[in-house]
Amino acid sequence: MTSKNRVSARLGAIAPSATLAVDAKAKALKADGRPVIGFGAGEPDFPTPQFIVDAAVEAARDPRNHRYTPASGLPELRQAIADKTKRDSGYEIDPATTLVTNGGKQAVFQAFAAILDPGDEVILPAPYWTTYPEAIGLTGATTVEVFAGADQDYLVTVDQLEAARTDATKALLFCSPSNPTGAVYSPEQTKAIGEWALEHGIWVITDEIYEHLLYDGAQFTPVLSVVPDLADTCIVLNGVAKTYAMTGWRVGWMVGPQDVIKAATNFQSHLTSNVANVSQRAAIAALEGGLEEVAQMRDAFDRRRRTMVEMLRAIDGLEVPTPTGAFYAYPSVEGVLGRDIKGRVATTSAELATIILEEAEVAIVPGEAFGPSGYARLSYALGDDDLAEGVGRIQELLAS
Ligand SMILES: Cc1ncc(COP(=O)(O)O)c(C=O)c1O
Repeated sequence: MTSKNRVSARLGAIAPSATLAVDAKAKALKADGRPVIGFGAGEPDFPTPQFIVDAAVEAARDPRNHRYTPASGLPELRQAIADKTKRDSGYEIDPATTLVTNGGKQAVFQAFAAILDPGDEVILPAPYWTTYPEAIGLTGATTVEVFAGADQDYLVTVDQLEAARTDATKALLFCSPSNPTGAVYSPEQTKAIGEWALEHGIWVITDEIYEHLLYDGAQFTPVLSVVPDLADTCIVLNGVAKTYAMTGWRVGWMVGPQDVIKAATNFQSHLTSNVANVSQRAAIAALEGGLEEVAQMRDAFDRRRRTMVEMLRAIDGLEVPTPTGAFYAYPSVEGVLGRDIKGRVATTSAELATIILEEAEVAIVPGEAFGPSGYARLSYALGDDDLAEGVGRIQELLAS
């Protein structure tokens, strides 16, 4: 062997997902027949609505759908994305400015790959979804975290963004409603952030995948609806996974300026070609169908959200801002760290998650997966009974 790395420096630098340690342990315990309750999953527990499944079954029977599609996606799906954008976000887009991707995740990677070079900086509000820094890092660009804690409802301010801005700042990642915090920026906050980016020539990558999961009257604000002039330096990321309980179908998309979409499409044409044809047909049915079933799922999430927040708030030491979007609660667990829990003491949220898993057989994702320690993410996309049982076990453990 030469002195060359066996694994490239780029891939070697990708951190194992911090969720994996807890998840692997939870799975091992489950395999041993232990009654583990998992709050880790970032996916709806409902089946995909029947009309979408029916469209896919029909599509699978048609040999035309056994072939490649254009790398950028079926023309009918790109048109459906344009129509849906008009319906949900209120502005017109040309279908030619869309690219259908293998889930929102591929759109995240391709958006960053399309605009970043080594030396560029991306401002990333923290807590953040765990994939963003890895996607940024792969391009050779640098992530600049801007942290907003529970005391500011996990919402960064323009002043904080401005303090993080340098000559190298190329882009801002904006995710509202947010994974992991469930925080939602108001129209005024969204506009102020969009205008700040426009003023400084900073790209906005806006992840709108949770746009339909809102509660307590919170409003989804597409950044381009309040700052339309940003269109030339904005990439919108979205997908069917969370809205239609379609995580397994792997359909997402990105919308952006022609040159960026062209570059990303060229890249995707070599990487994965097109998204599975049948899945694209299912996505057309989803986007062209109504939002009635989505409303039903949202009602269930809302009920679970209220149960979870109430039960978590009953635990001494937890600070629980009200999540008004997505399907996650994100309590600060600082007040529990250092406390005796059945003879054990956690000094970080990662250690606390391990203790909760081992002592209460409940899996939560520690804040370390999303930024600083001292927090935990609990998904409420699971059945009502399991939810009450799981949070009840945490209550009991932390009261002991
Ligand atoms: C904020 C956010 N963006 C994008 C995605 C990507 O979803 P998918 O690749 O399943 O479409 C997720 C999934 O967890 C997410 O939480």
